[in-house]
Amino acid sequence: MKTNVLSFGITVIYLGTVASALLVARPPSQLPAKKRPQGCDCYTISGPDPGYFQHYKVWDFRAVDLKKHANLNLSEPIDYDDEDWDDDAEAEGQEPQNGRLSPGVHNEKDPDPRSLLFYKTSFEKDWSSQNWERRGTPIAPVLMINSKHNVFLTRDSDQNNPHATYLVLRTTRFSEYTSTAEIETRIRNIYRCSLRVRLRLLPAGSVVSQPPQHKEWPPRDPQRHPTVPLNKTIPLRDSRPPDGACAGIFTYHDSTCESDIEILTRDPSHRVHYANQPDYDFAADHEIPNASTIADIPVPWTTWSTHRLDWLSDMSRWYVNNQIQDAKSYRVPELESMIVLNLWSDGGLWTGDMRIGDSIYMGIEYIELVYNRSSDAFRAPYVSPSQNQAPPTNGSFGNGNPLEPDRKDEKCKPGRQGRECRRKKWRNRPLHESCRRPCNIDQL
Ligand SMILES: *[C@@H]1O[C@H](CO)[C@@H](O)[C@H](O)[C@H]1NC(C)=O
Ligand SMILES: *[C@@H]1O[C@H](CO)[C@@H](O)[C@H](O)[C@H]1NC(C)=O
Ligand SMILES: *[C@@H]1O[C@H](CO)[C@@H](O)[C@H](O)[C@H]1NC(C)=O
Ligand SMILES: *[C@@H]1O[C@H](CO)[C@@H](O)[C@H](O)[C@H]1NC(C)=O
Ligand SMILES: *[C@@H]1O[C@H](CO)[C@@H](O)[C@H](O)[C@H]1NC(C)=O
Repeated sequence: MKTNVLSFGITVIYLGTVASALLVARPPSQLPAKKRPQGCDCYTISGPDPGYFQHYKVWDFRAVDLKKHANLNLSEPIDYDDEDWDDDAEAEGQEPQNGRLSPGVHNEKDPDPRSLLFYKTSFEKDWSSQNWERRGTPIAPVLMINSKHNVFLTRDSDQNNPHATYLVLRTTRFSEYTSTAEIETRIRNIYRCSLRVRLRLLPAGSVVSQPPQHKEWPPRDPQRHPTVPLNKTIPLRDSRPPDGACAGIFTYHDSTCESDIEILTRDPSHRVHYANQPDYDFAADHEIPNASTIADIPVPWTTWSTHRLDWLSDMSRWYVNNQIQDAKSYRVPELESMIVLNLWSDGGLWTGDMRIGDSIYMGIEYIELVYNRSSDAFRAPYVSPSQNQAPPTNGSFGNGNPLEPDRKDEKCKPGRQGRECRRKKWRNRPLHESCRRPCNIDQL
């Protein structure tokens, strides 16, 4: 027995060394890192209505330096306003890890973290991981507790590259409740967007380095509340996750102004649900026609693929790997919204219930977003980039001269120090009557 343990240990070390020696130069994932567009006035997308959108953001979780990221100074309150959600293209050199971090702090505790709670990283500046609960009801009988401890970055053990990482949302069924995961954008005034999330539901058998389960519910009986150990191997089950959870990717104002992508783990693994809300008439007790679609997509959701939702002026469109799957004109959202990603289960008819002790994991490689905001001061009628000649201006707004470089190239310091500078830049930002320099984000 001792010998076995020892030789296992040696094998692990050996493999680890070989892997890192061979693979240092390889890209961390099947897809190359996202190129951040530069020098664009606006962003267009593929599809029947190319856009356009004023803002661009990408959160790429595929090669996050966990050591560096583990140093978000949480004693500084995060109260980012409009002007602090910088466009990525404007925030050059402001990679997330260069945010408000104090390098060196984490190293003393754990020289090589294998997982890291999202709320301790600088991604938490733009997204907030949720901590709230929803009591059971007759139609949703299981208490649901969203926990910040269910959202974390992990090393990707399927990749040979030791730097490969991804984001994980985890849900676990305990005997008295289900522990669930949700992240929401801090800004809530997104007004139309194209959202892309590269994700997969982890098949059973996946190895996930993860933070320990947190004790969310006081009347905790250790016998009845199994703690999921670190590095747990999920038992094999036809390479699918267990039944009973719903993964959601959606825009949200309220339950009647919402556009959804939903994946139910009890469904066949090619099936997804698209809807604009409300999709159910509770008074009449039937589904609302044309509000929702059950789609069978070309790839199973247990493999990495890019799920896309376009929220346009009078049309919602859904894509997988840029292949159109569905379009709806029913109740396209008309109010400013936030973006939400979650993984949940309430024992109701929609999600079904999970088996006590089961955990389900959703991996996310990146989130990419082009969007407008209701706070954008100036809204011109849509001018397609091809018709788009330099507009007649008076100098009363924007920089009228198309050859004059934008002032927004000026850089501000990250974090609190740069706040005044960012506010100033926001107030003085050029307001474009039309878009002179569009970038198509699907051709980057
Ligand atoms: C964190 O921020 C607080 C408040 O700004 C500051 O007093 C403290 O020194 C910071 N800690 C580190 C480790 O930078
Ligand atoms: C499991 O954790 C140990 C140390 O805690 C680590 O050495 C090992 O690489 C981990 N395995 C995986 C697959 O993450
Ligand atoms: C649903 O959509 C179909 C096809 O677009 C249309 O013919 C039908 O009238 C719609 N039904 C309702 C109730 O809107
Ligand atoms: C985004 O805002 C710009 C500028 O106001 C506007 O021209 C464009 O049509 C908006 N995009 C969408 C999809 O509404
Ligand atoms: C120029 O500005 C004036 C006053 O702000 C306005 O009345 C006029 O219509 C503008 N002209 C053009 C061509 O935009």
